[in-house]
Amino acid sequence: MSVEQQVVDAFRARYGSAPAVVVRAPGRVNLIGEHTDYNDGFVMPLAIDRATWIALRPRDDRRVMLKFLDFEAQAAFDLDDFQREGKQPVEYIKGMAWAMQQAGHTLTGWEGVIAGDVPIGAGLSSSAALEMAAGRAFAAVSGIAWDAPQMARWGQRTENDWLGLNTGIMDQMISAAGQAGHALLIDCRSLDFEALPLPPETAVVILDTSTRRGLVDSAYNERRQQCETAARFFAVAALRDVSVAAFEAQADQLDELTRRRARHVIYENDRTQRARIAMLASDAETLGQLMNASHRSLRDDFDVSSDALNTIVECALDHDACYGARMTGAGFGGCAVALVERARAADFAEHIHAAYAQASSLTPAVYICEAAAGAEVVAGG
Ligand code: GLA
Repeated sequence: MSVEQQVVDAFRARYGSAPAVVVRAPGRVNLIGEHTDYNDGFVMPLAIDRATWIALRPRDDRRVMLKFLDFEAQAAFDLDDFQREGKQPVEYIKGMAWAMQQAGHTLTGWEGVIAGDVPIGAGLSSSAALEMAAGRAFAAVSGIAWDAPQMARWGQRTENDWLGLNTGIMDQMISAAGQAGHALLIDCRSLDFEALPLPPETAVVILDTSTRRGLVDSAYNERRQQCETAARFFAVAALRDVSVAAFEAQADQLDELTRRRARHVIYENDRTQRARIAMLASDAETLGQLMNASHRSLRDDFDVSSDALNTIVECALDHDACYGARMTGAGFGGCAVALVERARAADFAEHIHAAYAQASSLTPAVYICEAAAGAEVVAGG
């Protein structure tokens, strides 16, 4: 049964009628442009065909009452009086309500059922999907127009200021603004974006190493600080403002660690813009090579890969239907992404199962994915 059907059925069973509104918001995978978003740089993610769904109806009062099917949990809060309590899924909903109310909106209460099929903790942004689905729900019942960049900013505030996680804006932007069949080149400073069609006859395949690393938050914060140190050295607001030429002219004055971190970000921004040109030219070969270069840079200069990620990327590159592969998301575990010939994607997936299991003794998960639309009201609203 589809997740949509699950939430609609569960809503009916609980409330005795059809939901007034159904919303969905997708997870994401990033093709290229990694650890660039918090440097005001460029990213090129796509929304995937896995999402968080909410079936709901407005309430006459200011309460929000939720049933999370995936966690067999219920939660409720009052829009006039709520606090942060732990890290339960409801905190993502509260965070959105908080950010929207802080921005001056008057929200209407609602009740509903939530479920999703974005794997949790795999680096595919299940949390951004939950935030953007909640944003869609609040916007629909409260009569607030959907503005994807604005909604993404509220999602980022939920992460940064409600949950205390120092993430960038990429995940929320792509979940809010994704377009079917396309990746988006997003300028993380202006939040302007451009839809780019995937090269014809290719498939994007997600390779989950089935490893999850702790301490990602502290390593992530450390990388952010190192990037800020480098930006101060170049006397710019963010590393986005340093060209490859400017970097090369002064790189030898940086200490070795800062130089490697900055080199990753500055060249990754350049690669991401070159990836745009490759996409516009339907050039899968060049796009694949840029992805490979991105992986090496994340592995050797930014130090955010892992043995499992390196192994699964090598397995991917051993298959000749693969144009390119790299770790994706924050790193340290989780998923890689590969661009492969569409007609041979199933064979490629089989190869990964066998080769990665042999090389690592772990069982991967492989998703051949479609680029999906961003957050939307599917029914009602
Ligand atoms: C995580 C963060 C994003 C981004 C990536 C790395 O997914 O949530 O904002 O920084 O890591 O590119």
